[in-house]
Amino acid sequence: MTNDDATAAAQAAATAGSTGEQPTPRLTLRAGETGHAVTDTVWSQVGGTETFERIARAFYRGIREDEVLAPMYPQDDWEGATWRIQAFLEQYWGGPSAYQEERGHPRLRMRHAPFPVTPDAKERWLKHMHAALDEVELPPMHDAAFRDYIERAALAMVNRFE
Ligand code: HEM
Repeated sequence: MTNDDATAAAQAAATAGSTGEQPTPRLTLRAGETGHAVTDTVWSQVGGTETFERIARAFYRGIREDEVLAPMYPQDDWEGATWRIQAFLEQYWGGPSAYQEERGHPRLRMRHAPFPVTPDAKERWLKHMHAALDEVELPPMHDAAFRDYIERAALAMVNRFE
């Protein structure tokens, strides 16, 4: 292929993508329509379900002792709440999609609307999630990516400023 040919091919590919003539290829191979990814994922690289369960349990240990946050959570369903954050995080990082199957689309901002997520609540929530991550000691790049994600997600959840 000459340089001109290569340029033309690249332009054709770019145009096809932007006009929607061809669907954008979806590169993640899944084990079924809503199945987990077959290609390697952060989820599997950090140890899969076992690791996410450790994170969720350590996180809720902190939450249950937090005088501001604990009262917001369902006092008779700590196990359910633990499952929900675990399943959500597993799905987010490429693991099984059990969260979606049980709970549907996450719509996290909407689901948090009933709770007063003030800047103080956000800082407390993050403190417990960081402590949970300290405990599991993910590989450095995964640890950094996880912390970066929760910082951004937590900021997006703030819904009260008093
Ligand atoms: C910023 C401070 C936050 C506070 C105070 C907060 C508080 C809560 C509370 C009280 C619940 C209800 C517990 C339950 O029944 O499951 C909940 C649910 C949940 N939270 Fe948060 N949350 C915060 C941030 C986040 C962030 C950053 C994420 C995601 C990265 C998240 C993910 C979830 C999920 C997946 C559920 C379960 C939703 C469902 O399926 O009903 N939360 N949160």
